[in-house]
Amino acid sequence: MSAKANIGVVGLAVMGSNLARNLASREGNTVAVYNRSYARTEQLITEHPEARFIASETIDDFVASLAKPRTAIIMVQAGAGTDAVISQLAERFEPGDIIVDGGNALFTDTLRREAAISPTGIHFVGAGISGGEEGALKGPSIMPGGSAESYKTLGPILSSIAAVAEGEPCVTHVGTDGAGHFVKMIHNGIEYADMQLIAEAYDLLRNIGGFSPAEIADIFTEWNKGELESYLIEITAEVLKQVDAKTGKPLVDVILDEAGSKGTGVWTVQTSLNLGVPVSGIAEAVFARSLSSQRAQRDAANNLPAETFPFEVPNKEAFVEEVRLALYASKIVAYAQGFDAIRAGAKEYNWNIDLGAVSKIWRGGCIIRAQFLNRIAEAYGKDANLLSLLLDGYFTDAVAKSLGAWRRVVAGASLAGYPIPAFASSLSYYDGLRAERLPASVVQGQRDFFGAHTYKRVDMPGTFHTLWSGDRTEIEAEPSTH
Ligand code: 6PG
Repeated sequence: MSAKANIGVVGLAVMGSNLARNLASREGNTVAVYNRSYARTEQLITEHPEARFIASETIDDFVASLAKPRTAIIMVQAGAGTDAVISQLAERFEPGDIIVDGGNALFTDTLRREAAISPTGIHFVGAGISGGEEGALKGPSIMPGGSAESYKTLGPILSSIAAVAEGEPCVTHVGTDGAGHFVKMIHNGIEYADMQLIAEAYDLLRNIGGFSPAEIADIFTEWNKGELESYLIEITAEVLKQVDAKTGKPLVDVILDEAGSKGTGVWTVQTSLNLGVPVSGIAEAVFARSLSSQRAQRDAANNLPAETFPFEVPNKEAFVEEVRLALYASKIVAYAQGFDAIRAGAKEYNWNIDLGAVSKIWRGGCIIRAQFLNRIAEAYGKDANLLSLLLDGYFTDAVAKSLGAWRRVVAGASLAGYPIPAFASSLSYYDGLRAERLPASVVQGQRDFFGAHTYKRVDMPGTFHTLWSGDRTEIEAEPSTH
């Protein structure tokens, strides 16, 4: 065998095949391809005879077809399947070679795998790849972790296939070991929030504004020309335009209103809770999917008292603008929370993550791609240590312009009886963040009363406990440990 491949792909389902085709279409790449069942490999090379593939029937031939440092991207289902392929490659690879997991692995699995493999001298890289099947083929946003050493080989290859935004490839070395999969997980959490917020905007325009799905599609198309420009707004307009061939009704009216989830949003919330980061917009988006799937409860609750108050819309155009402003402000909160989670994760796991670089690679290729990410990149470009995106001048002004509308939409929707969990929780998060005093003082008093968990005072240093069951004098105390 003469020519060798500079990159390999294991797992040729649609994502893997599309990624292999993307790689093979770029100057300088020859792509080794392998799939457990050879039929799929055969299908790929038969359908794309022009592509620079080196196909192998066995994993041994696949490894032999790779030039050193051997570099292989695993594109199989996250979980046991990935572990099996990692073992096969680790048994055959040598120090300096690179194993890349391109699936949606949980970052703690990547940490475990990297810790197990890197002592052998083989590099293990967890890389988030966002953009779905089309992105894999035409240009995804790619979030590789792993060693800086591995990125010397991997970086140019991934840059050759990544989406391009503002002239820059949407790929960067996010950080070491599990940083890439961590950031991809947060991307997915933000994606959930983005999708939920758009869905809530749709629900208000439909039920309070009285617009049809087709009219809302036109509204979203209009919004897509401004600060809300994004892939998700664009595709939602397409979904709302769609007429069901079987019934002639708007497709959105015949789709069962029970949302699925492969779990990455759940991971984001679980991880953020452990990190102590309030990601209320993302969490409410996850909860909304869970609530939508509680069919029996929902059917039983269908006739619960409503006692709603009409949300008068004297001027439909003004209402549309108010919903748009509420959506934009809520979106800013969701992204601010997501980036807070990345910063907290970087601190916890000792990653040096450049938030500006992350926002730049999300400008293209990924599901949350949007013009808005340029503004985030500018914010972190001005201050890499920004305490919150909400404190950046651009976003502070954007929220200030939206605040009245945001409050009226949340209040009106609540009075009218329409669920807006992400809109409402984002507004409360914003008000909580800026509040001079929070009722956490009451919580501390409660905790000290029933659990002697102690509290601090505003007017002097120290830790205190009140003798609630005694004469209620206050004593200095050690912070409680139970
Ligand atoms: C992407 C998407 C993708 C996502 C699936 C499943 O970045 O291309 O985020 O990775 O995980 O579309 O999404 P659900 O969790 O909504 O099922």
